[in-house]
Amino acid sequence: MIEHVTIGHRDNENGSKLFEIVMPRFGLGVWQMDNETCKSSVLHALNQGYRLIDTATAYGNEEAVGEAIRESNIPREDIFVVTKLRRVHATGYDETLQRCRESLVSLDLDYIDLYLVHAPPENISAREDVWRAMEDCMKIGLTRSIGVSNYGKSHLQAMRDYATILPSVNQIEIHPWLQRPELREATIDVGAVPMGYSPLARGQKVNDLEIGQIANSIGCTPAQAAIKWVYDTGAITIPKSSNHGRINENLESLNFDLSDFKNDFSSLEESYISGWDPTTEP
Ligand SMILES: NC(=O)c1ccc[n+]([C@@H]2O[C@H](COP(=O)([O-])OP(=O)(O)OC[C@H]3O[C@@H](n4cnc5c(N)ncnc54)[C@H](OP(=O)(O)O)[C@@H]3O)[C@@H](O)[C@H]2O)c1
Repeated sequence: MIEHVTIGHRDNENGSKLFEIVMPRFGLGVWQMDNETCKSSVLHALNQGYRLIDTATAYGNEEAVGEAIRESNIPREDIFVVTKLRRVHATGYDETLQRCRESLVSLDLDYIDLYLVHAPPENISAREDVWRAMEDCMKIGLTRSIGVSNYGKSHLQAMRDYATILPSVNQIEIHPWLQRPELREATIDVGAVPMGYSPLARGQKVNDLEIGQIANSIGCTPAQAAIKWVYDTGAITIPKSSNHGRINENLESLNFDLSDFKNDFSSLEESYISGWDPTTEP
């Protein structure tokens, strides 16, 4: 059973709540999937009960995500689609709006559920304008909610000075080997929900002896132990697999109880970055 989390709400002019924006806390990431693999993986995942798909313009497969959603015959409003503004496209107000519209054309959908700035724009002076455009993407209905990715504590705190609407989500690398309690806390401090990417450290750690031993004691696979650990922190998480059996295995991770193994997971921390880490950039 996949839990949901409220990431925002819409108010009417009197300030009373009209409705909440709610998203599943578990879904499928589709990085490094070509269009054909992506379509088949998303279709399989949707059939198994996944309802959150995390793509990005940079992944080059938004088209396949949209096709799979339409072919699944699941009502659009039951599926939560995340896509992201490429860092190289995060240059200013106009380009941000234009790229959001382009994502909608690629997805061939009427709206995005959550649009993220993929990483803090490299041009620091562009960050405010990019975010103002993100806010407008939401106001004009291109996306239901907006957030950031790979934002460190200082990037989040800077947003307090220029954002009218603070981000709903900060998508960052989180897994048992990079637990990030302070960054998760800083994310929650600005009212955003942490969203943990690469819960398997891109597959680089699942064959390690220590996670194998913990998984044995729990009675699950190492991948399931890692995914469930991220989920139990309260973060949203999005393991990637293009293997149908592993897509099922990853969803089943939600059934395991890790509560007796807290100390074992604490000892796995090693500040392990599996790919890039823009959170520490200026
Ligand atoms: N915002 C960002 O900057 C950012 C960065 C990275 C990732 N992400 C998002 O997060 C998603 C997940 O992260 P990720 O793709 O980097 O890595 P990940 O989910 O940590 O790991 C994926 C790797 O693990 C393998 N795998 C999957 N399930 C497995 C299982 N049950 N047992 C053993 N191996 C398994 C996959 O291979 P198979 O496919 O062959 O199963 C793949 O090689 C991405 O797809 C993307 O949507 C975002």
